[in-house]
Amino acid sequence: MSRTTIPDLSEKYAGGTPLSMLTAYDAPIARQVDRAGVDMILVGDSAGDNHLGYDDTLPVTMEEALSNTGAVVRGTREAFIVADMPFLSYGTSLSESVENAGRFLKEADADAVKLETAPYGEATIEIVDRCTELGIPVQGHVGLTPQRENQIGGAYVQGRDTDTSTTGEALVETAQRLEEAGAFSVVLETVSEPVARRVTEAVDVPTIGIGSGRYVDGQVLVVSDVLGLGAEPYSLSKQYADLDSAIRSAVEQYVAEVESGEFPTAENAFDPIEEG
Ligand code: KIV
Repeated sequence: MSRTTIPDLSEKYAGGTPLSMLTAYDAPIARQVDRAGVDMILVGDSAGDNHLGYDDTLPVTMEEALSNTGAVVRGTREAFIVADMPFLSYGTSLSESVENAGRFLKEADADAVKLETAPYGEATIEIVDRCTELGIPVQGHVGLTPQRENQIGGAYVQGRDTDTSTTGEALVETAQRLEEAGAFSVVLETVSEPVARRVTEAVDVPTIGIGSGRYVDGQVLVVSDVLGLGAEPYSLSKQYADLDSAIRSAVEQYVAEVESGEFPTAENAFDPIEEG
């Protein structure tokens, strides 16, 4: 099998089969995610709190994101790889944004980049336009945009028309502008189900929801939540495994066997000494 392309994704979308996407940040996990048949892997800036030990996504640097992306690409063969652009690696100027986006393709061999867009965010829509004109595929991201957490003030549901939420109209129009700018897909994060459905009906590119309900064209989750690997449970996610417990019990057993002398045995030694 060869690597999934945008035409492959478009064909699946046109056929009405939901698209699956999961994050990954390193080669071993990405390898399993890829072999399990996910359509797209997002090397998310959620690496900040799920992989790099930061409190949130804001500290993630270009070098860290490039390193994570390179590892995920090297560990995979089929999934379409989307690299998430870190906070302030885009938006300060058009040229720096495009150059940083291009680095993910040139240096880490990603297939596309993703960047977050505030409601009606003209600066990022212009970046999407320029990147796609130059051949850098872009996935948009609207709704809850964690890189703006200090402005939003919390993980509030978006599309509800309240003080802590942008309007449904703003989300629909922003997604439409991203599509016009050339985005091949749009992530909807923590958007109320009715508004996620409105956005999905308003654009002709696949919407990929996280915490945005059922009426979208695909789903993305954070791999640590799915695997139960060092993550705070997220209510709208689903945990399919408990790797924390599996890892802890394996390591406890290892420590016990080292302390008791049960490990290593002669089978774990080169030229083992014959015991008389
Ligand atoms: O970084 C990430 O994991 C994301 C998803 C929440 C969509 O952007």
